[in-house]
Amino acid sequence: MAGFDLYGEEEKKSVMEVLETGCLFRYNHEHLRQGIWKARDLEALAKEYTGAKYAHMVSSGSTAVTTALSSAGIGFGDEVIVTPFTYIATIEAILWQGALPVFADIDETLCLSAEGIEKAITDKTKAVLLVHMCGAAADMDSIMPVIEKHNLTLVEDAGQALGAFYKGKSVGLFGKAGAFSFDFFKITTAGEGGLCITNDEKIYNYMHQISDHGHDHIGDNRGMEQHPILGTNFRISELNAAVGLAQMQKIETIRNNNRKNKAYLKSLLSAIDGVSFRAKLDEEGDSATFLNFFLKDTETAQKVMQQFAEDGLAGFNYWYTNMFHFINQWDHVKDLKMPFKMAIHHLGAPQDYHNLELPKAQEVIGKLISLGIKANWTEDELKVFGEKMVTSIKKVIG
Ligand SMILES: Cc1ncc(COP(=O)(O)O)c(C=O)c1O
Repeated sequence: MAGFDLYGEEEKKSVMEVLETGCLFRYNHEHLRQGIWKARDLEALAKEYTGAKYAHMVSSGSTAVTTALSSAGIGFGDEVIVTPFTYIATIEAILWQGALPVFADIDETLCLSAEGIEKAITDKTKAVLLVHMCGAAADMDSIMPVIEKHNLTLVEDAGQALGAFYKGKSVGLFGKAGAFSFDFFKITTAGEGGLCITNDEKIYNYMHQISDHGHDHIGDNRGMEQHPILGTNFRISELNAAVGLAQMQKIETIRNNNRKNKAYLKSLLSAIDGVSFRAKLDEEGDSATFLNFFLKDTETAQKVMQQFAEDGLAGFNYWYTNMFHFINQWDHVKDLKMPFKMAIHHLGAPQDYHNLELPKAQEVIGKLISLGIKANWTEDELKVFGEKMVTSIKKVIG
């Protein structure tokens, strides 16, 4: 699953190069850095890999989502349609913008469905923050016509989906701006880090300016740069970028290993009656960080999770009860619990968060189990793990 599976000498060497120059800052200081620009090189690689015209690294996936929303013009009072199944950072980013989350339903793609989005649209809807969950793309063929028909701004939270493509196009490039995470658990890690991409020069300029106090990054005298807009500090450090760069150089190896290991385990599960898989998966475009499979219903999925635990099998995620990934556990969102007043306190929530009707999300996430795929399983380990997994499932569903 994580790039950390293949963490090694390359990452250490990359960090040491930065430490030896003493230039830990991504901008300026040409006299110190001996030609070493880790963040800049990482951005060049990210552009090449995703096919984006512009890429900008920031301090985390969370700040990347905030930067993407800000740069796309989403702010105070804007209603933003979003999924109830995501890491909480997605929702926090909307709230931090002073915008208002509107929860819509998902389907077996594990992402917002076109139907769910359509149902949630009101005359106040400004944007959709589309999350490509668990390593693969949403159903873009169905979603894009809805975005266009209603003239909505699309921003993509691809926090879990670097290396995912939809019919040949990288996630993050379908809307105005895309965001990815490089935290410890992702396909490529920087320890902490985030990536923003876009094909729009104006948005790119906002991205690098907003994440560095409005600096225009022109010239070599930082104190005398112009500040076309206000911003804040979401900068990535050169040390984190050094790790991210070494990992980015391995992304195809990690992805290929993931895909091979996932295909093997999926073939074992395919032979079990009563197990089915994430819908509309563009197999070729899958980053394969997760193998997502469904049992018949919530009760069965919970029993299977229990069996995995009893049989000592680790690596499975049951998001339905996870505190950070599914709305059922988000009382702090529903109660708007913050120590300061946000726009949503002032404007009021656009929905009754305590009484949302998202039946498909309840059904789909209830029956879903996600296995994190390891990029460094040996053939033997994979075989043993696969056999144990099948045995555990069969103990429950026969
Ligand atoms: C969908 C999604 N968005 C955003 C984030 C936030 O990324 P980070 O942990 O790098 O802040 C995550 C992290 O798991 C995520 O899964």
